[in-house]
Amino acid sequence: MPNPSVDDPSKVAVNFRLPDARVVQARASSGISLMEAAMAAGIHGIVAECGGSLSCATCHVYVDPEWIDRLEEKGAFEDEMLEGTASPREEGSRLSCQIELSEKISGIIVTIPPTQY
Ligand code: FES
Repeated sequence: MPNPSVDDPSKVAVNFRLPDARVVQARASSGISLMEAAMAAGIHGIVAECGGSLSCATCHVYVDPEWIDRLEEKGAFEDEMLEGTASPREEGSRLSCQIELSEKISGIIVTIPPTQY
């Protein structure tokens, strides 16, 4: 039986690489945030304590290198918030509540950090 959250081609595909290296694939609507897609897919490593209001940094993800340039640039405040993440900040670090899903990033791969606290 088809799983609409994975099989609907009209949705944006997102691949979550978990800390144990398993990859969970999901599909979500354009216009929602990557954080919201993670919550809908039951990705426990995304906490999103503030609900997307850019005040917690518990929605930290590592965007795979080939996808970084396809995202909108991070804002100055997100950049500042990334200095306070529980897991180390890396080249691909972003706050997933600030990444808006769109067709141009369908297939994106993000890694969930080992901890958000
Ligand atoms: S959900 Fe709190 S900063 Fe992203």
